[in-house]
Amino acid sequence: MQHQGLLHNHANQVVSDGVDDANEPVTALLGLPEPSTARFDEPPFAAPADNAAIIVVEEDARTRQSLCQLLSPGWAPQAFGSLDDADGARIEPGRPAILLLGPSQATEAALQRTAAALEATPGTGAVLLVDFASPTLMSLALRAGLNDALSLDSANEHLAKAVADLARRLEDDLTRQRDGQRPTTASGGTRTGFVTSVFSPKGGVGKSVIAVNLAVALARRTGDPVVIVDLDLQFGDVAVMLRLQPRHTVADALSAGELLDEALLRSFLARHDKSGVFVLAAPTSPSEADLAGPAPMLRVLELLRDMFPHVVVDTPPHLSELVLQAVAASDAVAFLVGLDVPSVKNAQLGLQAFDLLQVPRSKVTLVLNRADSKVHLSARDIERALEATIDIGFPSDLTVPQSVNQGQPALIAYPRSRFSSQAYELADLVLARADETRARSR
Ligand SMILES: Nc1ncnc2c1ncn2[C@@H]1O[C@H](COP(=O)(O)OP(=O)(O)O)[C@@H](O)[C@H]1O
Ligand SMILES: [Mg+2]
Repeated sequence: MQHQGLLHNHANQVVSDGVDDANEPVTALLGLPEPSTARFDEPPFAAPADNAAIIVVEEDARTRQSLCQLLSPGWAPQAFGSLDDADGARIEPGRPAILLLGPSQATEAALQRTAAALEATPGTGAVLLVDFASPTLMSLALRAGLNDALSLDSANEHLAKAVADLARRLEDDLTRQRDGQRPTTASGGTRTGFVTSVFSPKGGVGKSVIAVNLAVALARRTGDPVVIVDLDLQFGDVAVMLRLQPRHTVADALSAGELLDEALLRSFLARHDKSGVFVLAAPTSPSEADLAGPAPMLRVLELLRDMFPHVVVDTPPHLSELVLQAVAASDAVAFLVGLDVPSVKNAQLGLQAFDLLQVPRSKVTLVLNRADSKVHLSARDIERALEATIDIGFPSDLTVPQSVNQGQPALIAYPRSRFSSQAYELADLVLARADETRARSR
C-alpha cells in the first residue's frame, strides 16, 4: 500500500449521494421470519470494496473504539485521535477511502478540512457521527460536502451498511472516472428536469407499478439519473416494490423547512442498485402524512427538477390539494384509467378537476391499464365517455403481481413481458414530450 497524505492533496471533487437500500428478503419487509444460513459470528455485511481504507477520527478513545467495533473486523479500520494524525493514514491511490468522523469532529473547522480533503482526492468519502440526530448539524455536514451524517444512536443499526454502500458508490465513481464517463450521481446536467406524475383518482389501478416501471424504463433508455417520488404519503409502496428499506423518507424533506437544499435532499434519497433509480420514499408511518402542505412539496419537486433530468411522481388515489398541486407542477401526467365503470366515472371527475386547475389536456397521456381484460366495456366506450383518446394500453399480465411480490420492477424481473415492453413505450412517449417541451422553451 502506498502512503499518501489524505488531508493535504487537491484534485477533483467526488460527488455522491446519501442513499440507502437494502438487500433484505421481501418476507423480512413484512416481518416474516426468513430461514437464515448465516452464522452468528459472520459480519453482517461483506467487507467493502477490496482495499478500501476506513479511517476513524475521534478524540474520545472509548467512542473511537466503539466506532471501530461497529465495523466488521475484515474492514481493518485505522483509528486516529485527530485529523492531523489521520494524515498519516494508509490509503491506496485509485481505491476508495472513507473517513468516519466521530462527534468530536462536528466542528466547522474539521468539516471544512474534511470537505477540502474529499474534493482533493477522487474516491474518498466521509460520514459524520453526531451525538444526537440534529437536522442543523446534519445539514451543515452535508452542505460542507460530506456524504452522510448519522446519530450515534442509529450507528449500531445503520453504520456498517452506510459505509458498505458508500464504499461501493465510491468504487463505481472511480471505475467510471477511469473509463472516462461522467458520474451517474444526481448532479449537473441541463438542470431543467422533466417531471411526470402518474395519477388516477382511483386506487388499485396500477399507478405505483406503472410509476416504478416508467422510472426504470426512463433510466434504461436515457442512461441518465432518474428519481421517483412517492407522494402516497399514507400508503405509499414504491420502496416495497423496489425492496428498499430507506433510512429517510419524503417526510424528512417536507419537514426540513428552510434547511432543505440539494445536499440535504440528496441525503434523503435511497438508490435502487439494479436500475440506478433514486427514490424519495413515502413515510413509514401514515401519521407522518399530516405534515405535508403543498408548499414544501412544491419546493421538493423544484429541487429534484434541478438535480435530475427525469422525475417521476407516484400519487395517492385521491384529489387532495397536495396531489392537484403536484399534477399542476408536472410537465406531463400519465393519467391511468381501468376498464370498469367506477374507474371511468372517477376519471371524468379527475379530468374536470384538471380543467378547473387549468392543467392543459396536452399535458395528459391517457393510459388504459389491463386494457385486454374481458369485461363488458371497451376502450372505445372509455374514449367516448372521456372525450379523449387513449394514448397507450398496458395488458393484464401475471408477471406484474409476481414481480411486485418479488420486490423487483417487472421491467427487470421479466424484461421481455408485454407489460415491460409497454413500460418502454410509455417512457418513449414521455421522452418525446420532454423533447417537445425543451424545444419550445429554447
Ligand atoms: N397490468 C397489470 N397486470 C396485472 N396486475 C396488475 C397490473 N397493473 C396493476 N396490477 C396489480 O394491481 C395491484 C395494484 O397496483 P398498484 O400499482 O399498487 O395500484 P395503485 O398504485 O393505483 O393503487 C398491484 O399489486 C399489481 O399486482
Ligand atoms: Mg399506489
